[in-house]
Amino acid sequence: MYNFTVKSIIHDYEVNFIEDTKAVLEQEIKEGDFIIIDNKIKELYKDELGEILAANKFIGIDATEPQKSYQGAEPVLKHLIENGFRKNHRLIAIGGGITQDITAFMSSILYRGVDWMFFPTSLLAQGDSCIGSKTSINFGDFKNLVGGFYPPNKIFINPKFLDTLSEQEMKSGLGEMLHYFIVSSEEDFRRFKNDYPQALTDKKVLAGIIARSLEIKKSYIERDEFDQNIRQVFNYGHTFGHAIESLTNYRIPHGIAVSYGMDMSNFVSVKLGYIPDSLRRDVRELVEKIWSGTQITDISLDKFTSALSKDKKNIGKQLGLILNKGYGKIFKDLRPMDDEFIGWLKEYFANELN
Ligand SMILES: NC(=O)c1ccc[n+]([C@@H]2O[C@H](COP(=O)([O-])OP(=O)(O)OC[C@H]3O[C@@H](n4cnc5c(N)ncnc54)[C@H](O)[C@@H]3O)[C@@H](O)[C@H]2O)c1
Ligand SMILES: [Zn+2]
Repeated sequence: MYNFTVKSIIHDYEVNFIEDTKAVLEQEIKEGDFIIIDNKIKELYKDELGEILAANKFIGIDATEPQKSYQGAEPVLKHLIENGFRKNHRLIAIGGGITQDITAFMSSILYRGVDWMFFPTSLLAQGDSCIGSKTSINFGDFKNLVGGFYPPNKIFINPKFLDTLSEQEMKSGLGEMLHYFIVSSEEDFRRFKNDYPQALTDKKVLAGIIARSLEIKKSYIERDEFDQNIRQVFNYGHTFGHAIESLTNYRIPHGIAVSYGMDMSNFVSVKLGYIPDSLRRDVRELVEKIWSGTQITDISLDKFTSALSKDKKNIGKQLGLILNKGYGKIFKDLRPMDDEFIGWLKEYFANELN
């Protein structure tokens, strides 16, 4: 399959598509390295990975948002330090975005930085989070508030892991990848919309979406790795999405929350005259398929506006919103949380979520 290198200010790293995780692990792992594995993957893949885990040092973790915190990382760091993990050893993460964020964060601070590798197992991690260097953990109720930039040295993507992913997690991954296609161009959006129905069942179609998603993301992160300008458009759908995630206690998976968030961003963009309603409807036909089976009608508008006002992209009292002026024309806008804006949200919550 296809492999590529991502250029990084910290260090370049390789992305390899693989078919045999066990064989690659056997080849890569050296004495002293520690595997950090999602407990769910450890159970689901015991036939394939049991032997290699038995022969090497590993730590199983639960992939939950509370685990992605100082409190969650502390016992893992303690175990590593007390069990012979040294600066020349590597951490090898096997799991989704949560396992990635925990491992990346620990790798960046332990002994002022150790090498790490990543075997992403969720669609969201394979098609998005595995590249881009971000290493966030949560702080109290605030998501991804503490962290830095620290890419793995190598990434190995085996799409076979996706066979055991729930339909909801598959849709979450597709919802998350969709925002890259809208940011990229109308052509990319059309192809995604056309491929979406097959992507849930056809591995080849899905692999094409993953590869294109990474390709679009790569082209931005190589120019703005530290999220200081052009990369910020990838927060499209995320200001609203993060508020949905935290107000539903993470019941709504990230990429599904982002799908609602993109529709809300489009709704506001229509109100501001940036796009015609027909464009919002065009995207909405797709995002409705992604979020079908979930509902967020229990979110109160007051709590929603309060969550928006805490977003890390805000400047002073201005909301840092990523809005839509058309496919390929997503941009950052600063807007006050005034009565007009709150009125639009009220209208959205009353009419658009049924
Ligand atoms: N660092 C970044 O750039 C970045 C980018 C996007 C998202 N994230 C973070 O990633 C997290 C979301 O990622 P995620 O959706 O991969 O989360 P996750 O790691 O929690 O995985 C989602 C669920 O799927 C399970 N799972 C993973 N792989 C599986 C498989 N092959 N078969 C069956 N079940 C499997 C997990 O156990 C978990 O229950 C969030 O915390 C988000 O903030 C980070
Ligand atoms: Zn995201």
